[in-house]
Amino acid sequence: MSASIIDGKRIAKELREEIAGRVASFRGEHSIQPKLVAILVGEDPASQVYIRNKQRACEQAGLASSLIRLPDSVSQSELLGQIEDLNQAPDVHGILVQLPLPEGISADLVLRAIRPEKDVDCFHPENVGMLAIGTPRFLPCTPAGVVELLKRSGVETRGAHVVICGRSNIVGKPLALMMMQKGDGGDATVSVCHSRSRNLEELTRQADILVAAVGREGFITGSMIRPGATVIDVGTNRSANGKLVGDVVFEEAVEIAGAITPVPGGVGPMTVTLLLENTLRGARRTVR
Ligand SMILES: NC(=O)c1ccc[n+]([C@@H]2O[C@H](COP(=O)([O-])OP(=O)(O)OC[C@H]3O[C@@H](n4cnc5c(N)ncnc54)[C@H](OP(=O)(O)O)[C@@H]3O)[C@@H](O)[C@H]2O)c1
Repeated sequence: MSASIIDGKRIAKELREEIAGRVASFRGEHSIQPKLVAILVGEDPASQVYIRNKQRACEQAGLASSLIRLPDSVSQSELLGQIEDLNQAPDVHGILVQLPLPEGISADLVLRAIRPEKDVDCFHPENVGMLAIGTPRFLPCTPAGVVELLKRSGVETRGAHVVICGRSNIVGKPLALMMMQKGDGGDATVSVCHSRSRNLEELTRQADILVAAVGREGFITGSMIRPGATVIDVGTNRSANGKLVGDVVFEEAVEIAGAITPVPGGVGPMTVTLLLENTLRGARRTVR
């Protein structure tokens, strides 16, 4: 069997065009341009690439974006002061602080300092709580990207057994929350695995939908996949030869799965797209 490929690039492009249309209508109706402000601390090369991609995507969708660059040496209180200024700025609808932060700055404290109404990454405890009780203010970008990929590929989640490898606050945990909720894109039976899970292969082989979010090249091998299952590879790892690879051994998985996301070109493009959606959401709240 050869799995069908879930083309994240194509689906993200389709969704970005839809968002651009909604941004244009919003701007026409309210004369407000939704605006995202990113804060980048230090010179981490990967973070610089991510931020550039996010800014380019904003411009293409008709959103305003700006970047505040701060040196590695910035103090926590200066950073918190910057965030507070953005919290108060009426023309700013989304704030994101690119992680990781340099040593000596508490990411936890910084993320809590962002006003929840502008927390487009959906990392603030208030927003995580709202997600957990099924009344989300924002949907977290990577998990929402996964759900959107499944929906737009016609993969039924209702009643499906979803097995998620990884329980981080950024991917595994919020994805589990989303997929177990009642309603569209949810209604799944969710198992979450982590480094203390026993008999991992036995668990992953039960999955109708298997999500890999571990951050280890070669983690999911063919024998861990139930024939015909949908495999979503969230992992982004640099292999020894510098290539971007996921957590799944693609060549094995593609022979066993029913559908699979590639890396690159799977989940990655969706994450940035959902950030655009959240910035528009943030702006909509100001006119209600
Ligand atoms: N495509 C995108 O847009 C996107 C966005 C975000 C992240 N990512 C990628 O997704 C991957 C995961 O990111 P993350 O932030 O969630 O990583 P993370 O915070 O490091 O979490 C990794 C998770 O994997 C689990 N794990 C580690 N070794 C394991 C093992 N041997 N068996 C079972 N579980 C194991 C960990 O378990 P414990 O909790 O027990 O330690 C943890 O829950 C990374 O490659 C990251 O780059 C991609």
